Amino acid sequence: MLDIFERIKENPGPLGQFADYGEGYFIFPRLEGPIGPRMQFQGREVIFWSANDYLGLCNHPEVIEADAKAAAEYGMFYPMGARAMSGETDQHLQLERELADFVQKESAYLLNFGYQGMVSTIDALVSRNDVIVYDMDSHACIVDGVRLHAGKRFTYKHNDMASLEKNLQRATKVAEETGGGILVITEGVFGMRGQQGKIKEICELKSKYQFRLLVDDAHGFGTLGKTGAGVGEEQDCNDQIDVYFSTFAKSMAGFGAFLAGDKDIIRYLKFNLRSQIFAKSLTMPMVIGGLKRLELLRSRPEIKAKLWENVEKLQSGLKERGFNIGDTNTCVTPVMMQGTPVEATLLVKDLRENYGIFTSVVVYPVIPKGMILLRLIPTASHTDSEINETLAAFEGIHDKLVSGYYKEQEQLLLQEQGLSFKPI
Ligand SMILES: Cc1ncc(COP(=O)(O)O)c(C=O)c1O
Repeated sequence: MLDIFERIKENPGPLGQFADYGEGYFIFPRLEGPIGPRMQFQGREVIFWSANDYLGLCNHPEVIEADAKAAAEYGMFYPMGARAMSGETDQHLQLERELADFVQKESAYLLNFGYQGMVSTIDALVSRNDVIVYDMDSHACIVDGVRLHAGKRFTYKHNDMASLEKNLQRATKVAEETGGGILVITEGVFGMRGQQGKIKEICELKSKYQFRLLVDDAHGFGTLGKTGAGVGEEQDCNDQIDVYFSTFAKSMAGFGAFLAGDKDIIRYLKFNLRSQIFAKSLTMPMVIGGLKRLELLRSRPEIKAKLWENVEKLQSGLKERGFNIGDTNTCVTPVMMQGTPVEATLLVKDLRENYGIFTSVVVYPVIPKGMILLRLIPTASHTDSEINETLAAFEGIHDKLVSGYYKEQEQLLLQEQGLSFKPI
């Protein structure tokens, strides 16, 4: 019989195989200092492009003050227990009301974490007779939520409406046989490559097929739409999104998440979400701090305007310098290249060590095999000089990349250190 631990040691996984090579630098890097456009990494200052702190609220003095005051008053644990048992407070309900108003829905419900919340939401929305149809490039929390589903599921090609329609036809057939319904799930913004989900086009299919739509708008909330209410507002189809989800981990510079939708459905979810029923209530500093963040989103439109000014400068600058940033139509700024993960790390190291630029590097399994993606997240806090320094750095690495310099370095490194990795 196989020993599970032996198998794990022999096959640490697609990322795990790089643990000795990259831990602490490329994977699990340790940044220091206050979160902002300039942070400390391994003893030097870097221009930091890896935080989803779109609106720069992580370090907003009013946010820091609200969090600190709430922590001083309530501690980090209050309220004890799950919402359903002993963890409901007026402030939780107030934040839910204000969130619902902000995203123009009847009702909202708080979640402790986006990831678990989404898994549980999918679990609670469908029965074994229902069919799920979801975008192939969906975030892991959607994929894992679908895994819990005991009935049929179909994926459609990323943002491909013909493929969605084909799968809706298959799903309709199955649902007619089982007596179930159909749940379509997608993202408002695909966080790696920055494309908006085609929410309006999906909603238009409701005239031909019967389904309900769940949208994960983690990156759209606070950044898209006239008021920042997200992808539904941006694409003018908010009323057609049946269940809206976003995390606080991005524009809201916090933790936790929420769902919004029709009163009856949110009430059903409140009573049926296992990630909430069986887990402690969101703590007071995050609830009171959440009210402050939301107030800033509503009352300071200039912050979002500055974010988009920076997005425009960074994205057009990269394009002018010959970089492929794909078809992003959001703040997420991917720089896409072909190459191996080791080549990607050498390029990233060059950027960090020789130019003082810190970006995240993303490889398979987060994105397709053979692709390297450097992801830059502009925020409202970045300055012109930080954007210009970054563009100059990218100009610096461009020639090396094109001439195959990093590829040569990879060969040397692997030979020198006797390393070998499985091709991914
Ligand atoms: C699209 C998307 N959904 C869900 C999550 C998970 O949210 P949380 O960090 O609150 O668990 C993330 C990442 O934060 C995300 O990018």
